[in-house]
Amino acid sequence: MVTRKRVVQSYGFVFFFVVVQSAHGDLSYSVQEELKRGSVIGNIAKDLGLEVGRLSARKARVDMEGNDGQYCGINLRNGDLIVAERIDREEHCGEKPSCVLKFDLLLENPLELHRLSLQVQDINDNAPFFPKDFIKLEITESAVKGARYRINAAHDADINKNSVESYILQQNPHFVFSSQTTSAGSKYGELVIDKELDREEQQEMKLLLTAVDGGSPQRSGTVVIHIIVLDANDNAPVFTEAVYKATLPENSAINTLVITVSASDADEGVNGEVTYEFSRLSDKSRKMFSLNEKTGEIIVTGNIDYEEGSKYEVIVQAKDGYGLSSEAKVIIDITDVNDNAPMVYLKSLTSPIPENVSPGTEVGIINVQDRDSETNRQVRCSIQQHVPFKLVPSIKNYYSLVTTGQLDRELESDYNITITATDEGSPPLSSSKTVQLSVADINDNPPVFEEQSYSAYVTENNKPGSTLCSVTARDPDWRQNGTVVYSLLPGEVNGAPVSSYLSVNGDTGVIQAVRSFDYEKFRSFKVHVMARDNGSPPLSSNVTVSVFVSDVNDNSPQILYPAPEGNSFMTELVPKAAHGGSLVSKVIAVDADSGQNAWLSYHIVKSTDPGLFTIGLHSGEIRTQRDIFESDSMKQNLIVSVKDNGQPSLSATCSMYLLISDNLAEVPELKDISYDEKNSKLTSYLIIALVSVSTFFLTFIIIILGVRFCRRRKPRLLFDGAVAIPSAYLPPNYADVDGTGTLRSTYNYDAYLTTGSRTSDFKFVSSYNDNTLPADQTLRKSPSDFADAFGDCDDSPEVGTCSHISFDMCSYLFRQVYKL
Ligand SMILES: *[C@@H]1O[C@H](CO)[C@@H](O)[C@H](O)[C@H]1NC(C)=O
Ligand SMILES: *[C@@H]1O[C@H](CO)[C@@H](O)[C@H](O)[C@H]1NC(C)=O
Ligand SMILES: *[C@@H]1O[C@H](CO)[C@@H](O)[C@H](O)[C@H]1NC(C)=O
Repeated sequence: MVTRKRVVQSYGFVFFFVVVQSAHGDLSYSVQEELKRGSVIGNIAKDLGLEVGRLSARKARVDMEGNDGQYCGINLRNGDLIVAERIDREEHCGEKPSCVLKFDLLLENPLELHRLSLQVQDINDNAPFFPKDFIKLEITESAVKGARYRINAAHDADINKNSVESYILQQNPHFVFSSQTTSAGSKYGELVIDKELDREEQQEMKLLLTAVDGGSPQRSGTVVIHIIVLDANDNAPVFTEAVYKATLPENSAINTLVITVSASDADEGVNGEVTYEFSRLSDKSRKMFSLNEKTGEIIVTGNIDYEEGSKYEVIVQAKDGYGLSSEAKVIIDITDVNDNAPMVYLKSLTSPIPENVSPGTEVGIINVQDRDSETNRQVRCSIQQHVPFKLVPSIKNYYSLVTTGQLDRELESDYNITITATDEGSPPLSSSKTVQLSVADINDNPPVFEEQSYSAYVTENNKPGSTLCSVTARDPDWRQNGTVVYSLLPGEVNGAPVSSYLSVNGDTGVIQAVRSFDYEKFRSFKVHVMARDNGSPPLSSNVTVSVFVSDVNDNSPQILYPAPEGNSFMTELVPKAAHGGSLVSKVIAVDADSGQNAWLSYHIVKSTDPGLFTIGLHSGEIRTQRDIFESDSMKQNLIVSVKDNGQPSLSATCSMYLLISDNLAEVPELKDISYDEKNSKLTSYLIIALVSVSTFFLTFIIIILGVRFCRRRKPRLLFDGAVAIPSAYLPPNYADVDGTGTLRSTYNYDAYLTTGSRTSDFKFVSSYNDNTLPADQTLRKSPSDFADAFGDCDDSPEVGTCSHISFDMCSYLFRQVYKL
């Protein structure tokens, strides 16, 4: 039979914090004692309206109050409350008419407590028994009909119907049995004489008395009453009180006097000698008390524990010499002493807890119990300071351990929480328990670069694969949540993907060049490197890496004017009247490098007349050093070297051809030139004499030229003072012309660029440039071409072994031809 009632009760607890919380409904079941394990008592899920499937998740369980015994259990599959251990009603409740065991039914998430009371019903599992199986009774033969002799009652551990119901006395001619109840409520029996005894007829007799209980099946116990018929009669002892009451603090020492019982007998001599003994005593009591047979003192012989039993009832018997006896009850109340420290039980713990749980999350359930009673069992519970946890009193003596703030595994990953419980006894007792809680990681920290931005410096012409720099990001999270992987963020540098410039090692953050950089193409660029952790979802951050390419002296100076030696032949006119210091020409050179590497210096390494011309060290301007004399050679060669300032420095050389003459128109006049050159006085007759020679030469030259023209269609350029440098000739993106200038690619070159001479009167020979010759060929004339034209003239410009006269004559004659 299972009955259920729902009671809503409020429990107010005066704890450290006063919180009144109402428990949920109470459940009440009733169960027969001694049921087999696994027997179903009731269905909790149904009675509480809980989902069966949630029982397991909510860790439903049953705890017995203040006891380690686990008499009940829950079948989590179907919610049945089942018997987990043999329940013996007599063990728990003794003679109490009602036997209720109290349990806590605990559910978590959220914490829910139901009180569960289990009414244990008696079954007839104990037979009645007599304190002794042999009773000796001495009765005088003079006893009259109706005389009564007390017999100690039989006892049955069961209660109500299952306890002793009736007595059956063996059939005999003299006695009948009568049941009686004392004023204290205890039962006893009496033998009543039905027919007088006659000692001479029968000296003694043995009668069997049977006590039966009312259970089903019926159980019984027997005692043999041995009656000896005597000659005389006497009085039974009488106790001074029917019920003795004593109080005894628990833990009383051995031999402590509890109480003294006393009975008096009206008889004298042997008949008045009273002895005491326990007539009925539970096994438990037998271990704790003893009765002095002579004095009636009850003393402590065992360990009195309030928690084991708070009240003892014993029946003492006083007997006189002839075996007449009477009984009295002794009730010993044990008083509580604060001898039990509170116990802290950890009923449930969530560990590890994720670090991102919100404040107020319940992480554990604590139960405190104190086996003492009254104020001795009132318990205050607290935890140590400086932890982000607190205890919240919950239902009854349960506490929730909840978080009070945000947890951060990166700051503190483990907590040892000490829970201290102190009772209110005097002196108070306390105990503590340490709960270890660990905090689980959540990917809540992105990787952070050690620096705000990184710069890498690399010299140009680096080897592909060379290391530029390395980036490092830190992530304090745990394991993969803190494992950093580096990568390049996609982007473009000069129109090409960044990955074609750099690569980053995903594990180490080392950045390597993928290609060789050219300072002349780009000087710096930026890339973004991302650090990402391996969490899910991953967190990332990025950083800018600036790469600066530095220059190395890998470009030699490039001479724009005059064109480099060996390829071209260029001539400048120098007026004969030029004074010292006049600007004659200028060497123009550029260097694709920058800084020192492009800082150019100019030197004349060889010249026809070392004292005549100087060159500006950094300007490249060629000036006369002194006035020009008539005696100076008309043709001057300079070899100019242009060096940059790099380490090591690079250089280029060019040749500069200078012709000392007043103007181009004058040049063809052989007379003038020879006059200038030779500085001698030629008479007109010499000229006339030469006319005839020239006639001969003329015809000779015409023949040679005729042959030449036929063989070569390329026109000759002679004494070409006018130079055109088309802008397309310049290399692109030249930044500096020389160490001082700022010649840009947009510099507009024109015909005058090539000569720095103010005084020269240059004429542009448009017919050669525009029509006959490709632009670049204007600048490139190999000396051999001249040699062809001059016949035996030595083509080495700086050596100049050709004699002046023949040179003059050649020039003159050639000019004549040219005019034609
Ligand atoms: C917690 O206690 C354990 C064992 O006593 C110890 O190893 C650990 O270091 C303690 N942790 C903290 C955070 O105090
Ligand atoms: C990483 O973080 C995630 C949540 O962000 C968590 O679920 C996981 O357990 C963490 N991993 C480790 C190894 O702690
Ligand atoms: C790089 O990080 C900055 C902030 O640090 C953010 O604003 C930006 O969007 C990120 N860039 C990329 C490509 O993730």
